This record gives sequence, structure tokens and C-alpha cells, in this order.
Amino acid sequence: MITIALAKGRLATKGLERLIQSGITFSEYDEKSRKLIFESDDKQARIVFVKAMDVPTYVSLGIADVGIVGKDVLLESDGVVNELADLKFGACRLCVCGLKPLPTDRKPIIASKYPRVSERYFNAHGIDVDIIKLEGSVELAPLLQLADGIVDIVESGLTLKENNLNVYTTITTSSARLIVNPRSYKIKLKAIQPIIEAINQGESV
Ligand code: PRP
Repeated sequence: MITIALAKGRLATKGLERLIQSGITFSEYDEKSRKLIFESDDKQARIVFVKAMDVPTYVSLGIADVGIVGKDVLLESDGVVNELADLKFGACRLCVCGLKPLPTDRKPIIASKYPRVSERYFNAHGIDVDIIKLEGSVELAPLLQLADGIVDIVESGLTLKENNLNVYTTITTSSARLIVNPRSYKIKLKAIQPIIEAINQGESV
């Protein structure tokens, strides 16, 4: 059986839709359920719902063979996975945002769910910063003077707008990626291929 790790939320819904459209159905699946594992009706695959940041961990350790996760999360992860395709959905940007531009007369403090991406970005630009790792609602940090700025995902831009924050730099763009465990890709290719094709519908892998 092939295990597919899905990042809870919108990416999971889209990924699941593609599997179902290709005939890999999960009639037990109920979006209201708190169940975390669902087997396909043909018992060839199972989907497991994990936190986005955990998808690369499950896939790199071979617990899941395949995963769907945002590029933002992959950039933050140190797991070793094969990135097979850009699925194009879940498009967003990773940006430096704040109430005002970062101070230049002292070391700026940055809050983020993406400390590694932040560190790499500021290092590459020769800017010395202190980074505070947060788990969510990162926009609060500049509003409450916890940080001078944030590195965070901007999708619709609504969260920034409603909190009077601005984008100062786009670090990179992100979208959902299809990832696979390198070993599974070698030794289970025959079983994995239909699942990869289902998820990556219309695109060649
Ligand atoms: C993400 C991100 C922003 C928001 C951006 O948070 O961290 O807060 O979405 O989306 P928008 O541009 O469409 O407003 P998420 O919803 O994942 O919740 P979190 O803050 O608890 O991490």
C-alpha cells in the first residue's frame, strides 16, 4: 500500500480531488471527521493528514511514500525528498512585511514561522537580524512590538490589509509541490506511478 501525506487544509482538499477524479476513491473519507488515516476503496493507497511542516519529515523518513506540500514548507525543511512536480495550486508569496521598513540604525528583530528561510534571506543580503520563531498569527508581532518585521506567507493579502501591514520584499513565490521519498521512488515505482499521475493530472512527470 502506498502512503500519501497530505498537509491539512486547502492543499489536502485539492490533492484529494485529483486522486478521486482519477478513480482512486476514498468513500470512507469525511471532511468533518477527525480521523487521520483513510484507505482507498481499492486498498492500494492510504492518505494521512499531517501538519504542513511535518509532511517533508514523513516523506523523507519513508513513513509516507508521497506527499503534497507547499514550496514554502520545503524551503524551511531539511528533509531529503524528491520534488517531482509543481502542482500550481496553493500559490502564495513569502514576504518581508511590517508596519514600516526595517530599522537601519540597529539590528532588526524578525518574527517568523520560517526561521531558516528568514536567516538565509537576510544572510544573503548581508543584513544581521535576530529571529524569533513563532507558530502562527505572526502578523501580531509587529503590531505588539515583538518584532520590527515578519517573514510570512501572503496569499490574498487580506490578513496584512486588515492589520495595516505592508509588504516590503517578496523573498520567493510558493505553490503546492508533489514530493516523493527517494527510496520509494526507486523500489515502489510501479505502485507509485499511477498515484503520481493522478495527483499531477495533465502534467508530465
Ligand atoms: C497564513 C499566513 C498569513 C495568512 C496569509 O496563516 O501565515 O497569516 O495565511 O493569508 P492571506 O494573505 O490570504 O490573508 P494561516 O492561515 O496558515 O494561519 P496561522 O497564522 O495560524 O499560521
